[in-house]
Amino acid sequence: MTQLSLTRATALILCAAGAACDSAVVNSPSAFAQRPRSALASKTAEDAPVLAIGHRGASGYAPEHTFASYDRAIQLGADYIEQDLQLTKDGVLVVLHDPTLDRTTRGPAENCKGLVIEKTLAQIKTCDAGSWFNAAFPQFARPEYVGQQVPTLEEVFQRYLHSQNYYIETKNPEDAPGMEEKLLALLDKYDLRGNAVRRNQVLIQSFSNASLRKVHGLDPELPLIQLFTGIPSASIRAQLDDVKTYAVGIGPSGVSVDTALVNAAHARCLDIHPYTINTAAQMQALIDVGVDGMFTNFLDVLTGLLAKDKAVGKQGAKLAADQHKTCVSGT
Ligand code: G3P
Ligand code: CA
Repeated sequence: MTQLSLTRATALILCAAGAACDSAVVNSPSAFAQRPRSALASKTAEDAPVLAIGHRGASGYAPEHTFASYDRAIQLGADYIEQDLQLTKDGVLVVLHDPTLDRTTRGPAENCKGLVIEKTLAQIKTCDAGSWFNAAFPQFARPEYVGQQVPTLEEVFQRYLHSQNYYIETKNPEDAPGMEEKLLALLDKYDLRGNAVRRNQVLIQSFSNASLRKVHGLDPELPLIQLFTGIPSASIRAQLDDVKTYAVGIGPSGVSVDTALVNAAHARCLDIHPYTINTAAQMQALIDVGVDGMFTNFLDVLTGLLAKDKAVGKQGAKLAADQHKTCVSGT
């Protein structure tokens, strides 16, 4: 039995002792030792490894959503690199978290201030997406961050091709008509759709239920993750019977996660990937309660905790895909 399995087994033993299992984990990690795991949990000690998802790349150490950030995330062992999508005025998918360029780019105001949807790709390519990071985080500043650009999603696929797993979010899709179709067209162009279905090489996430339902309508086999804001566990649990009809997992805020939510998700064959988990204590508490992966800005902290239980190479995504298929088939 692995180190991680032992941790989970310990949790199960504690659960059998009968204490309540439904307090928020992230806010009280030290309490988990007294909080056993419910017998309803469908995950076992033989589960797929906990996945390390590079939130906006390695955004604790490098300017988010730049090649520098993705390269660093890969160096640090990310199972997935995350992309937040925005659509330009001329219909190109670019990778940026905010709907505006203001926070994370510098350059001519007419090009680098305001809404992405009101700028052309040519305008956005004049913006520096790294200098802000050096100013904001001098302890992690590097000269090579100056001059980083806002990548298009296509450029991300061209750079990493099939060597990486992608965790792609449709951001503000209600303001970007056609975002989903453009995403699927790029998956096809770079031969990623089949790998998404077969081995979760691409996961598509959104806070927008409508956006995920649209993708599901376009291709019911694509693996989708429903995101939730930091609402209570019970509010999320009430939606899971619906979510399981189109998604393979959920991405709650870490503050929403408790044992009841993990069990409710797993009972419906839904994986659970909380965001954004940046301290070792929070990570360990979530590992102990049985989450299947997590978004973090500090991948080295998570991979250090997982140690030999870290997925090897990019196999974690495939193992998760297989586990999901086994779960829904009832075997
Ligand atoms: O997608 C998971 C997490 O990234 C959601 O939060 O605001 O960083 O996109 P946000
Ligand atoms: Ca995101």
